[in-house]
Amino acid sequence: MTHIASELTQLERIPTQIYNSADDACQTVADAITDLINERNAANKPTVLGLATGSTPVRLYRELIRRHKEEGLSFANVITFNLDEYYGLAGDHPESYRKFMQDQLFDHVDLKPENTYVPDGMVDSDAVFQSCKAYEDAIAAAGGIDIQLLGIGRTGHIGFNEPGSGPETLTRLVTLDSLTRRDAARDFLGEANVPRHAITMGVGTILAVHKIFLLGWGEGKASIMAKTVEGKQTDTIPATFLQQHPDCTFCIDQSAASHLTRERHPWLVGRIKWTEATTRKAVLWLAQKTGKALLKLVDEDYTENGMSDLLIEQGSAYQININLFNVTQHTITGWPGGKPNADDSNRPERATPFPKRSLILSPEPLDDVYCLGGTINRLKQHGNDVTIAYQTSGNLAVPDSEVQASIELMIELGQDRAGKADLTYAKTVKTQLKEKGTFGADTAEIRHLKGLIRRSEARSSARTLGIETAKLEFLDLPFYEDGRYRRFVATEADVTKMCELLESVKPHQIFATGYGHDPLSVPALSFEVLRAALQKCTGSEWMKDCNIWLYKGPADEWEANEIDMAVPLSPDEFENKIQGIYQHQTQRSQTPSRATNKSSNTWDLAREINRGTAEIYDSLGLAEYEAIECFKRLSK
Ligand code: GLP
Repeated sequence: MTHIASELTQLERIPTQIYNSADDACQTVADAITDLINERNAANKPTVLGLATGSTPVRLYRELIRRHKEEGLSFANVITFNLDEYYGLAGDHPESYRKFMQDQLFDHVDLKPENTYVPDGMVDSDAVFQSCKAYEDAIAAAGGIDIQLLGIGRTGHIGFNEPGSGPETLTRLVTLDSLTRRDAARDFLGEANVPRHAITMGVGTILAVHKIFLLGWGEGKASIMAKTVEGKQTDTIPATFLQQHPDCTFCIDQSAASHLTRERHPWLVGRIKWTEATTRKAVLWLAQKTGKALLKLVDEDYTENGMSDLLIEQGSAYQININLFNVTQHTITGWPGGKPNADDSNRPERATPFPKRSLILSPEPLDDVYCLGGTINRLKQHGNDVTIAYQTSGNLAVPDSEVQASIELMIELGQDRAGKADLTYAKTVKTQLKEKGTFGADTAEIRHLKGLIRRSEARSSARTLGIETAKLEFLDLPFYEDGRYRRFVATEADVTKMCELLESVKPHQIFATGYGHDPLSVPALSFEVLRAALQKCTGSEWMKDCNIWLYKGPADEWEANEIDMAVPLSPDEFENKIQGIYQHQTQRSQTPSRATNKSSNTWDLAREINRGTAEIYDSLGLAEYEAIECFKRLSK
């Protein structure tokens, strides 16, 4: 795919290629790397690669490993330089970038260990400057970096060049931004454990390489991607300095591209084909931009905002407004399972069959109540047969302190009952907890117990929503049980488990999330597993009559034009949902990540999101509700 400059891309200051999936993008970059290595190998010259960590390049590394194993791609003549390393972490620390690279690439290809450079995170503070200088010298001695891979952090950092880093900076010790540390909190089992400093190549070091590919996947990156590609160069977003580089390409997926003007507001930069979808997107945007209700938009609003051709096509603002008002009105329903004995021609969900078998899929416990607690409660109250399935155990998100409290309870209970309880398990976990320390990997026993703790929270939360515990399924998908954050791999075993669930429930409607998320995240993998399972079930009778409703979360919401079903909640229903969220005690200290970062805990964020949607409907001139949960229909 070549970058074709057009009026749609004229605002872009960096060539940006948008791919259908992360894997497609990785193919292009893997091809460029393969060609260069083969060319250099043939000339008996080394290839110098600049490498990045984080979840973004993992799929590319998997593809390079595959090419090495199956197609003979040799790294024997390759020299690598990594961008950065946490300061204070030794190479064998489970979260060090050296360890990450060993696990994700180095140990699986024929790279010579002495040719893999990662900044030394353990160097004494008074030797840091010398060590950084030596790193720059080593890059120069290797002849400079041929191809540099980059990801991007939500602060707009490349490597660990946080806001404030200028284009002339070189390899050095830096202080990490609080948003960056929050994003790393899950890897380190708590923000407090995330190192405060790192050693990183500078922006100047990066600008000196020959060729750059920056990769980015998922909606979480959409906002920073647009600012980097279209904004002015500024040290508040160091990635914007990539605009200076003569050979830098952004290879991103559609979700990460979704905030680029050519995707978000294409009518502002050129002529577009007005379809139902683009009209809806443009008009709802116009109403929000002008702060007017849909029915109050006038011709001037359209002409002044790049939409005169739509006006000409449709005749008048009045006609467009009324159409869009009706479309939006018809997304609202208090009956997410369909309303029996009612005309359903303008309702999001069909009236029959009734009651429905509704399957709620929650990637981890909490996602269900957090994103659609009110809807679950309504489905149940209307008499539908509701099953909630937790796709993964969520055990990685349980702090050790919670395990400690549980084993103390078990031991005390055992002692109270004068030896009637077997304390072996509790005592084993107690010893293991001590041995592993803060950062050690959890043993199978510890993960098991953490999973049980989350199950008990899920049960109390579901009871709050009126769902009996017999209707909860804990799938414990193996990709999660066998993995850690940013490094999960889904396999056939996961799909088989999901298929078994679908075939046993035979749902009329499924509520799921993960669409458009970072492909290695828990929701995205859970969704990929669902997709594969649905594919396998294609011949099943129930599949012929099953609607799939996507919820956006956690910590995010659909844009107004994407909503196909909006379920309003009364103040009481909304409070009940918040009570349900409270039941997830181990998650209270977890800070959810969200671009706006206005709220710092799940219940406040749920309030902010659901009330926010209600406010949008209100401002569009529809009814005023306390809160709204919303869904997008997955087209078959
Ligand atoms: C860290 C790394 C960056 C990386 C960023 C994004 O801050 N130092 O090099 O680009 O995280 O990580 P992810 O790819 O997991 O989103």
